[in-house]
Amino acid sequence: MAQTSSLDFMLLKRLTQTFGPSGSEDTIRSVIIQEIQSYCDEISTDVMGNLIARRQGKGKNIMIAAHMDEIGIMVTHIDEKGFLRFTPIGGVRVNELPHRKVQFKNATIGVIGMEKLDKLADLKLERLFIDIAANSKEDAESRIRVGDTAVFVGEFHDQGDKIISKALDDRIGCFIAIEALKRVKSTFPLSFVFTVQEEVGLRGAQTSAYALEPDLAIAVDVTLTGDTPKAHRMDVKLGSGAAIKVLDRSIITPPQIKRWMIKTAEEKEIKYQLEVLESGGTDSGAIHLTKSGVPAGVISIPTRYVHSTAEMADKHDIEAAVNLLVALLESYELPSRVEENN
Ligand code: CO
Ligand code: ZN
Repeated sequence: MAQTSSLDFMLLKRLTQTFGPSGSEDTIRSVIIQEIQSYCDEISTDVMGNLIARRQGKGKNIMIAAHMDEIGIMVTHIDEKGFLRFTPIGGVRVNELPHRKVQFKNATIGVIGMEKLDKLADLKLERLFIDIAANSKEDAESRIRVGDTAVFVGEFHDQGDKIISKALDDRIGCFIAIEALKRVKSTFPLSFVFTVQEEVGLRGAQTSAYALEPDLAIAVDVTLTGDTPKAHRMDVKLGSGAAIKVLDRSIITPPQIKRWMIKTAEEKEIKYQLEVLESGGTDSGAIHLTKSGVPAGVISIPTRYVHSTAEMADKHDIEAAVNLLVALLESYELPSRVEENN
């Protein structure tokens, strides 16, 4: 049984609590640079803002992708009294918004309020506003402008063998990629890409994969679970290991990649489960359609309450995901580009 004590969960805390909605990833990018710069040969940022950390080697180029953006909101209007109207950035559920706190880049806190509603069905985005405790429009505008973005507030808790926080999607993937980068002894050239704008349509993955032309790619992201009372039926559970993606709405994992991931997990005795996700997608969806196609897979971390302010994951699954990613990157033999009969 792998130990969880070897992981630095204080780093995960720092990653989840750092500001980084889609399109404003500069702060989280500098935190990641600080953490990884002594573990790679070359580090760069591209036009979109993707952070690319490269390790030299021989043979096939492997791309590892984890998105560093998180969901949030953008201000669309400031009214006479200093209340803000807003639009979502990424998959935000309107019915969960009332009385949530948001935080802007300059640390301003806002409370989401709502107009008087006659019935629950009237709860629409246009009936909600953000109250930043301003006394007037001028007061509000001295701190916030139209076009500014904010993230949801959600503290980090380390409780037993579980982690609870906002933005586990996908700082948990960034964390796993960072831990793998620190440990891996691979002979292959590796490109760890911390992508931007996944939550608004896998945009950073698209340009970075085009530039890197990897021979193989592995994305790391959260997935949903079916292990809470009367949940949507899904065979993924917290604590049952790293999830190997078979399908989501953005990719059907190529058979040779799926087989390679399963074989590696079994050989190294890493706990894993198979993931079929009926909604959503992730960076591998964009990466595998790059140029003439890139064989790509995903290591997923089972996570409850994804896109809420209190997402929950299991430390053993995180450890399993790090071990699986390291084992795959240290593989003696990589899968072929196309499926072969065997
Ligand atoms: Co997400
Ligand atoms: Zn994600």
